[in-house]
Amino acid sequence: MPHSKVYYGADYNPDQWLDRPDILAQDIELMKKANISVVSLGIFAWATLEPEEGKYNLDWMAKIIDDLYAAGVRVNLATPSGARPAWMTRKYPEVLRVGANRVRNLFGERHNHCYTSPVYREKVKQMNQQLAARFGRHPGVIMWHLSNEYGGECHCELCQEAFRGWLREKYGTIEAVNKAWNSKFWSHDYPDFSYIESPAPHGENSVHGLKLDWKRFVSHQTIDFMKWERDCLREIVPESKVCANMMYFYDGIDYFDMAKEIDLATWDAYPTWHKPTETIEDTAIDTAFMHDLYYSVKGQPFWLMENCPGPTNWQPISKGKKPGMNIFAGLQTVAHGGDGVLYFQWRQSQGSSEKFHAAVVSHDCREDNRIYMECAELGSILKEIAPVAGAKREKQAAIVYDWSNKWALEDAQGPRNKGLSYKHELLRHHQGLTQNGIDVQIINQDSDLTGYKVVVAPMLYMLREDFCEKLRRFVQDGGVLVVTYWSGVVNETDLCYLGDTPHNLTDVLGVRRMEIDAMYDGETRRCVTESDELPQVAHGSILCEVAALEGAQPLMVYDEDYFSGAPVVTEHAFGKGKAYYIATRLERDFYKPLYRLICEDVVSSCWPTHLPEGVHASARGEYVFLQNMTEAYVWAENLELAPYCMAVYKREGDALVLVYNQPEFKWSPIK
Ligand code: GAL
Repeated sequence: MPHSKVYYGADYNPDQWLDRPDILAQDIELMKKANISVVSLGIFAWATLEPEEGKYNLDWMAKIIDDLYAAGVRVNLATPSGARPAWMTRKYPEVLRVGANRVRNLFGERHNHCYTSPVYREKVKQMNQQLAARFGRHPGVIMWHLSNEYGGECHCELCQEAFRGWLREKYGTIEAVNKAWNSKFWSHDYPDFSYIESPAPHGENSVHGLKLDWKRFVSHQTIDFMKWERDCLREIVPESKVCANMMYFYDGIDYFDMAKEIDLATWDAYPTWHKPTETIEDTAIDTAFMHDLYYSVKGQPFWLMENCPGPTNWQPISKGKKPGMNIFAGLQTVAHGGDGVLYFQWRQSQGSSEKFHAAVVSHDCREDNRIYMECAELGSILKEIAPVAGAKREKQAAIVYDWSNKWALEDAQGPRNKGLSYKHELLRHHQGLTQNGIDVQIINQDSDLTGYKVVVAPMLYMLREDFCEKLRRFVQDGGVLVVTYWSGVVNETDLCYLGDTPHNLTDVLGVRRMEIDAMYDGETRRCVTESDELPQVAHGSILCEVAALEGAQPLMVYDEDYFSGAPVVTEHAFGKGKAYYIATRLERDFYKPLYRLICEDVVSSCWPTHLPEGVHASARGEYVFLQNMTEAYVWAENLELAPYCMAVYKREGDALVLVYNQPEFKWSPIK
């Protein structure tokens, strides 16, 4: 993939407009004017591509690809497996999904197929290979968009058998399964593999090890299906490059595993900008975490495959984006390592459930429509900052976010069943670091820690023995480790560790967990410190862990309840490094000063001076992006940033040279 530009584009569904050549011709003209360089083509076009079994109709697509190519627009060609034609489901009902209640779905909706079904796999193979043979070597086709937002699960008999086979492979014997799942509990011993069934509302829900393994299996099987799609293409065109669009904080697939099987990581972002209960900075921080995750899953630039240039239509309240917000969202992507900014979708559908979802071209078909104008403006900005494309990010801090941990943590039935909001814990650490201008990447328990200066393990409830060893060595060799409450509690099959916890880390942290108290919503415990560098008073919420000091220095302690005086934040020297422990969840604002303290002398900010409130800085290679996440004009150094605007600097020696200062996008309904 050439890295000469930041790719800019949208999902393009011309199959909805084949009877309107005027619309197709206008598409090309408007794409050129908006500097569109790529489209994801034909994601849901199977019924048009194969209207009858074995009768392929690809000529319309050939013309579209040629016309796009002539206009300088490249194609990210979709395999259409996300939705299938009606004839297929009538003839082969096994392609349809079966729910956890064991009822098979009817034809309808999309993403409604079984990942195991040999018939579905065969049909997908035939379709994908038709596309590959016809278009795989077209100079305009630069990438394959594998299906769409893989996800969901199927509980049919084929999937049950595949699950049992996966367990056999993993554990070898049924005795090992029973041991790993502690299935003596409630007499759940499985006499042999044939007794094992996926969780069901009218069946099993209490064997946590089984539920965890089911989630792992679903993730595995989905990725296996994706690999099947990829390999079908590569049988015809071996050099095919593939991507898949991942979803925000989606629970159902371990995206670290998925990313290994694709050439480019991409994700779909639908942030709730302008929500009255969030500031722009709040929404931007949430989005930044996700950008960092999708950069990290491959450790290389990603694409934002979908985002909406205006209001969506499926959120409880689908708010519009104020003038300039769409440009900010696009540039924020690039600032975090994005080399592609694409929309869902190019042109608004005329009917069905997405007819009011914004698109680059609206129903009015006008190029003086505000949304189109702003999209076109972003197109020209992305051209100007093209040299940043391809730039990688420096390893500074890493936050551990592990899918297995999330699955186990959320199913733990522990002190708070009302939800632990794992994401909010992660975001606090991310925000604390990034507000100090420190680069954050997201890692899991398979990751190599080499190169990072700071590793943060928030709520690492499920701590694998091998990862524990990695953390120990990391600190021993000079790294800084931060571990929070509710970490190191269970092993990888969700069995509680016996002995002191956090498991195998008590000597590294210099603390030992004694007990944990759960807080109701809104309930907090006062915490105090004498340190000048931290807020003097803070409040613990969600879970308050009570730990014994075993060598660590307390930096903050509880100041109320029966555990008053117990440590809240501690510091401990271990080997050549340091380990910090945080016993509860504190206010969001606490984490900026906390990480300033922790990171001092360890890692430096990409911005030379103190960042004003609401202004973030992030670096890509030699470029630094200064981002105003407020609705006001802000001065940073000698530059005034307009609301939601960014400036791009280039590092030259010790100096930062301004290379791009974004003008404010102004729009008024009054001419
Ligand atoms: C995505 C999906 C798109 C479109 C979009 C609407 O989840 O991949 O096809 O439906 O949502 O926001």
